[in-house]
Amino acid sequence: MNIHSILASVVTATAFAATTTAEEAVSFETSILPILESKCIKCHATEHTDAAGKVKKPKGGLVMDSAAGLTKGGKNAKDKTLVAGKPDESELYRVTTLPSSDDDAMPPEGKADPLTDAEKELLKKWITEGAKFGEWKGK
Ligand code: HEC
Repeated sequence: MNIHSILASVVTATAFAATTTAEEAVSFETSILPILESKCIKCHATEHTDAAGKVKKPKGGLVMDSAAGLTKGGKNAKDKTLVAGKPDESELYRVTTLPSSDDDAMPPEGKADPLTDAEKELLKKWITEGAKFGEWKGK
């Protein structure tokens, strides 16, 4: 074995270790849904009638309590609401990273707590990994 083949096997072994020790994929149901439930879904639920008998439509046409709604997307962003593999092209992620003074920032200022950095990272990672819902269908 010459020095080049030794180096090549070291590189291969390192790459192998890096992929096999990668963290587990982010689960929508256990990691993402709780964030949406606490900070988004009160305004982005499937159309329903509230306790006072008032019809509540999802804001911006974006339904976030079902996989179908999230896949369909909002009235403006449509299929750019979630772009599998591309968080920076996904409106759902982008709006959470805007300064609270921005008109598009979500949640709207003062209406719910903004996402923490850890929550934004999880959302980004979930989209990067393909924005998959697993078994979850929601409403
Ligand atoms: C207090 C209510 C409220 C909360 C909470 C809220 N939103 Fe919104 N959201 C709105 C309103 C109102 C609009 C529509 C704005 C418009 O059409 O100008 C909107 C629109 C959007 C849109 C654009 C939809 C489109 O395509 O037109 C996205 C994406 C979005 N929200 C994501 C989120 C996310 C993510 C969260 C949670 C982190 C969240 N929202 C929390 C009220 C809310």
